[in-house]
This record gives sequence, C-alpha cells and structure tokens, in this order.
Amino acid sequence: MPPRPERSRPDRLARLPQQYFAALLRRIAAAAADGGAPVLDLGRGNPEVGPPPHVAAALREASARPDVHGYAPFRGLPALREAIADRYRDLYRVELDPEREVAIVPGTKTAIVELALALAERGDRILLPDPGYPDYYSGVALAGAELVLLPLDPAAGWAPDFDATPPAAAAFVNYPTNPCAVAAPAGVYAAAVAYAQRSGAAIVADAAYIDLVFDGRAPESFLATPGAKDVGVELWTMSKTYGMAGWRIGFVVGNAEIVERLNVLSDHSRVGIFRPLQDAAIAALRGPEDSVEERRATYERRRDRLVAALPEPPVCEGTFYVWLRLPAGLDADRLLTEHRVAVAPGEGFGPSGEGWIRISLAVTDETLDLGIERLAPALAAAYA
Ligand SMILES: Cc1ncc(COP(=O)(O)O)c(C=O)c1O
Repeated sequence: MPPRPERSRPDRLARLPQQYFAALLRRIAAAAADGGAPVLDLGRGNPEVGPPPHVAAALREASARPDVHGYAPFRGLPALREAIADRYRDLYRVELDPEREVAIVPGTKTAIVELALALAERGDRILLPDPGYPDYYSGVALAGAELVLLPLDPAAGWAPDFDATPPAAAAFVNYPTNPCAVAAPAGVYAAAVAYAQRSGAAIVADAAYIDLVFDGRAPESFLATPGAKDVGVELWTMSKTYGMAGWRIGFVVGNAEIVERLNVLSDHSRVGIFRPLQDAAIAALRGPEDSVEERRATYERRRDRLVAALPEPPVCEGTFYVWLRLPAGLDADRLLTEHRVAVAPGEGFGPSGEGWIRISLAVTDETLDLGIERLAPALAAAYA
C-alpha cells in the first residue's frame, strides 16, 4: 500500500498557546508522583463546594421527566433568560431585555473564544489584560487576531491605562480579577466605555467573580456604567457564584448586537443546553441566596487567615485567589518540589506575572492551614 499522505494541520491549531491549566495539572501530578512528601494543591481554580441541595434536586427532578431529552431550544429557555435578567436588575442595578440582551452559553470559557471569533476579523487587534486569565489567549489565537497586552498597573489598583491604548476590535477587562484578586478600581469601567466610544472597540467585561467580593464591597457590574451597554457585554457564570463549574452554564449579557452575533455563531455550532440543566440553573438563580453569602464569607475568612500569615501581606479584595509577589530566590517550582505546595506560577497569566504566584483559597480549611504551615516559613526564609 502506498504511504498515506500526511494530514495537514491548520494554522489555527498551531497558533494556540499551551493550555496553561492543563499543563499546570500535569506538572503538579508529576511532582506528586516523584516519591517525595505529598503535595498540597493550592494551584486550583475549581470551587471546592458544589451548589446547594435544592439545585441538584431540581436537576434530578427535571431529568426524570420524559419530555426533556430531545434537542433543547437553540437559544435556551426564556424563563432562564428572565431569571438572569431579574438578578441583574435586583443585585447589580442593570436592566436587561431577556429576549435580546441575554445569551445562554455552556460556560463562559466557551464564550470567550466565541466572542473573539464574533468580534475580530483576522489580523484585528484584541486587547488582553496583563496579568490576566490565560484562556483569553485561546480566543485571540483561534480568531487569528493580533494580541495586544494591556498592562495593569498595581499602583492604580491594577487598572489599565486606556489613554495609552491603541484602537482594537475588542478589549477584555476582568474585575474582580483573576489573578490579581482586586475589585474594579474607581473609574476603570467609565474609562473603558470612553475608550470604546472613541476607538470603536467592543468591551468584554468578565464578571466571573462578581459576587465574591470582601470587606463590605457590593458586587459591581460593568453594565451599570453609563453607556456600557452601547459598547460591550459582560460574562456571568454559574461556576463561581454557585459552585457549578462542572455544570458548564453561563451567560453573555449586554449589547444586543453582540449578543446576536454570539447567538448566530452558536446556532451553527451547538444546539441549546440540556434542558434539565437550565431548569436547575433557574432553581439556583430564583432560590435562596444563603449559599452564595456563605461561600463569599468563607473565602473572606480564608483570605484573612492566609494574608495574616504572610510576611508581606498582599492586597486581596475578592475572588478566591491571593496574588503574591515572591521574594528573590523563590519560585513556584521550588515551592512545589522543595516545600511541596503547588501554586499557579504567575508567568502563565502574562509577562508581567513573572515573579508572582497565585494561591487558591478554593480548598478545604485543612488544606489551606497545611499550605500556610509550609508557605509561611518558606517565604520568611527567602525574605531573611
Ligand atoms: C476570569 C475567569 N473568567 C472565566 C472563567 C471561566 O468560567 P466558566 O467557563 O466556568 O464559566 C474563569 C474560570 O476560572 C475565570 O477565572
């Protein structure tokens, strides 16, 4: 038989960066198997507690019905779109038209890629925060867009300088930030809207951690900023607020034209979302919110414990991470192999993350306490 011709590999796959979190999990697993002491994993971004029982019960009940197993409506259940619109009105003071200004997505990670495809032509610029969530890079690569990093200034509350920012097809902003763990600094959303108005860029505001803010802060939506809905959309996910990361359900809300673009793209690539999952999401959004407050308060308490134990206490205003600059001579790899604590190395979040680490609070209290017992002396020794 003649040799089979080689299968060509489309450029768009070659453009993809290494998947940071998949590589991190492999690195941690390899260290855990090296014969040394057990490794404590403070690298994860995966909520350690799931949704309250009434949500799982809603899924069970809905999935027992015979009429829910066919293809779901393309653009989801109107009742689910109404439930998220009501949340936006009641909690974030934003009015949304559930018909035109809400898209239901299978997790916002999917939407990050789809929005890049829907907003940027090949070669167009997309602006990403540096440091920022690594999965934004995937969308830029798949769209064949030009990546432009938007450095965040720690002295300005990790805000970018929109005055010094070139025109682009889209700009991603993310508060409370993964990984820097700060809430939106005053004026940052207004600056983003002004930039979008003068440059024509679309703003994609990632509100994954909107409800996980500390010290009495109120959740703040980008869309509550005057003019925001004219220029952008917000990503809102069930993953962090309700601990439903594995369920894969979230929303893109805001500008109706962008929401429509996203819906058109998804009409061609998927068919709705399993109906019982949507029913369970409605149960979460319409049900008691005490689990959300409990989750938020738990992360705040853990933040206090960790920060109090660190020689140079970092700022942490929300999310379930602490972002820490390491003293010279210490890095994530040494913490992993010598001190047996896995953290997320900062360089994976962009070039300015070099020398920093992200520590997760989404672990049990016992794991965090053991982690502190290992981290605090390692840091103190490096500072000495
Ligand atoms: C900043 C940020 N955005 C988006 C996501 C994706 O969330 P999901 O795809 O579960 O909705 C994450 C998950 O860690 C995140 O940290």
